[in-house]
Amino acid sequence: MRIGYLGDIVGHPGRLAAAHAVKVMREERGVEVVIANAENAANGSGLTPELYKKFKDAGIDGMTLGDHAFKKQQIKHTLETAGDLVRAINWPRGCWGKGAMVVGPGADEGVTPGNQKRPGVHVVMVMGRLFMNAQQADDPFAAVDRYLESIAQVNPQPIVIVEVHAEATSEKVALGWHLNGRVAAVLGTHTHVPTADARVLPKPGAAGTDASIPGSPNPFPGGTAYCTDLGMTGPDDSVLGRRVDRVLKYMTTATPAPFDVAEGRPAAHGVILDIDERSGLSTAVERFDLPLPGSG
Ligand SMILES: [Fe+2]
Ligand SMILES: [Fe+2]
Repeated sequence: MRIGYLGDIVGHPGRLAAAHAVKVMREERGVEVVIANAENAANGSGLTPELYKKFKDAGIDGMTLGDHAFKKQQIKHTLETAGDLVRAINWPRGCWGKGAMVVGPGADEGVTPGNQKRPGVHVVMVMGRLFMNAQQADDPFAAVDRYLESIAQVNPQPIVIVEVHAEATSEKVALGWHLNGRVAAVLGTHTHVPTADARVLPKPGAAGTDASIPGSPNPFPGGTAYCTDLGMTGPDDSVLGRRVDRVLKYMTTATPAPFDVAEGRPAAHGVILDIDERSGLSTAVERFDLPLPGSG
């Protein structure tokens, strides 16, 4: 199964770049399932029900949020009722919405052992704690472990993609190793800057790796794909999606300047994963970086 995953969609330029990217992924790259982080979609902060609907219509199968999840409070009802929109799984009990979803061709099947239908794709979104101003967040490592334990009862070889929304590269890399061999992919978001480290991690216990990492019993091909940050889907000529002049004014003078979303050079940034449906693991991952045509 080929899956496309786009980083944080920022504002109107990001929405244009995302719609174009989904079309290219599906029509030219053989992508079957598209997932995107939409935490910055509504004018740079949060997601509205209207934009959620537009993204669905554009061909995005599942959406994730991040530290800006509740900035547009009108998303509450959609978060509570839609099966394809999640916030972080390690938020406290009582928080709006849920932290994991199942999307893709087998999303509705009710997976059971021996079921021959296509598998659903579990997407788990987890928030890092370092430099994130996320005091309410639970341990991200334990939160994902608990989710994997909960689904292992019904499906011993599920396809699971974990999105880690975090500031610190160390926390993301560590989570990648923690989940190595147990999930299809660990993909970072939030910093809005694409990283060049997309790869399938060596199998646990493989030569040259830390022998203390437990081995995987999975006999089928594939491993855990990893990328520290997908990068944002938004205006590349910006400071993390915001107008350069405004951010520079603030940073050089310490005087207030509204951080409006920038317009220049929209582009989509993310990855394409190839997943072996027997193992639930990735056989390949490649960066997907696509400027919006005619944008400079
Ligand atoms: Fe974020
Ligand atoms: Fe973001």
